[in-house]
Amino acid sequence: MTDVAEIRKTLEAHGQEHLLAFYDDLNEEQQDLLLNQLVAIDFDQIDDLSEQFVKHTPEVEIPSDLRPPETVPYGGGDQAEEARRRGEQLVAEGKVAAFTVAGGQGTRLGYEGPKGCFEATPVVNKPLFRLFAEKIRAAATRHRTTIPWYVMTSPINDTATKAHFRQNDYWGFSPKDVIFFEQGTMPAINYDGKLMLARPYRPATSPDGHGGSLTAMRKSGALDDMVDRGIEVISYFQVDNPLVNSIDATFIGLHDLAGAEMSAKALPKRHPLEKLGNFCVSDGTIHVIEYSDMPDNLAYATREDGRLKFSAGSIAIHIISREFVARLTEGGRCKLPWHRADKKVPYIDPETGEQVQPEQPNAVKLEMFVFDAMQMAEETVIYETRREEEFSPIKNADGADSPATSLHDQVRMWANWLERAGIEVPRDADGQVAAAIEISPLFADSADELAAKVDKSISISPGQSFYLGSRGQIGGSR
Ligand code: UTP
Repeated sequence: MTDVAEIRKTLEAHGQEHLLAFYDDLNEEQQDLLLNQLVAIDFDQIDDLSEQFVKHTPEVEIPSDLRPPETVPYGGGDQAEEARRRGEQLVAEGKVAAFTVAGGQGTRLGYEGPKGCFEATPVVNKPLFRLFAEKIRAAATRHRTTIPWYVMTSPINDTATKAHFRQNDYWGFSPKDVIFFEQGTMPAINYDGKLMLARPYRPATSPDGHGGSLTAMRKSGALDDMVDRGIEVISYFQVDNPLVNSIDATFIGLHDLAGAEMSAKALPKRHPLEKLGNFCVSDGTIHVIEYSDMPDNLAYATREDGRLKFSAGSIAIHIISREFVARLTEGGRCKLPWHRADKKVPYIDPETGEQVQPEQPNAVKLEMFVFDAMQMAEETVIYETRREEEFSPIKNADGADSPATSLHDQVRMWANWLERAGIEVPRDADGQVAAAIEISPLFADSADELAAKVDKSISISPGQSFYLGSRGQIGGSR
């Protein structure tokens, strides 16, 4: 039983006693709920963070010796064969797990429910979780092994995410091989350094960023579970990118051959200010500098041949060694830095009891970013990939990086695969694909696999919705 007098004393010592403003009006269950949440907050840490990030806006320090990183070219360059074989061996030996971070709020997309349930594909409207499940199952079948799938949720979507999997029979996965765990949260801090109540019995909190995945893996027991299963390598990706190659043997092999602790895929940026983190090197370590922090003179700097100097953009696809996560999270705390974001956080006025919907940002949300761990890795590999094959995220409701652009990119990729296999794809006068096309990852998850399996006599008519199902059967409609 949590003692309210004790908690009141702690709150008073930190100037946060307003969090108990409605305590006496709550029923017993709500009182317990509130107290349990309050004891879980480290108020000394909140004081420190408030000083560093709320009362002051920290200057992002940009090292003066930044230069572009070395990257491994698409395909793996000289190491292509060796890396692919090494990666395939690790997967086949059951040492690789898939890991999806799916704890975000998805506010920009504005979809009710976990983003992984969003129906994202062009013909079958598969939810993102189904698409990833099929990709991972396909990789497991290809390598005659089991690939466990860790899914990080957050308190805002954990119940709904698990229900979605249950209702859909885990999309063909064995339930014991889908491991959910919840990430931590961080209270929002208002501009006076106060925490806020979202409900009379609940402080306003939000998930602590995808960087919170590292500590959450340890605290939840997922890391121990990986040890038990013999997992050595984690293939990390976000829930919002339908094109991701979820288990890329060459990438895994490159990481392992280099003895890397954390590796990343990179894309040439479309333009100097594209909203991707920038891979840079300072003092021998990799830094990812956010697009908003990159000074213009560096963002626009070019090489002799006119290409951008800092062209390698981060697309949040990583290979992470399990032992690296264990090292970084030793003692239960991870040393990743916090990042500040100003947000409009609704709250209950402790004096009037009224719900306030601020029109302007009123509080600071603190998040950790997983790519900051790259700086702490002894060895890293930055592996170039191709945008059209690997990256088309669903971030916004419309415009760039939206469901519409992602559908377009999915159709274009699958159409290219079919054409490379010798199948004619209808295109309009501008060369755009003139049909909706989708291929099940369970049938083929790369251009080469498709070319080896597909019936070359199939034809696709203009305007057709064309789906190639798991056994190569044709679905969709004309
Ligand atoms: P985003 O940075 O796009 O954030 O997350 P978001 O919360 O999904 O969306 P907005 O900004 O509110 O519109 C990138 C990836 O990191 C995950 C997301 O689920 C997504 O896969 N993520 C983000 C977490 O798992 N936890 C977090 O606290 C934040």
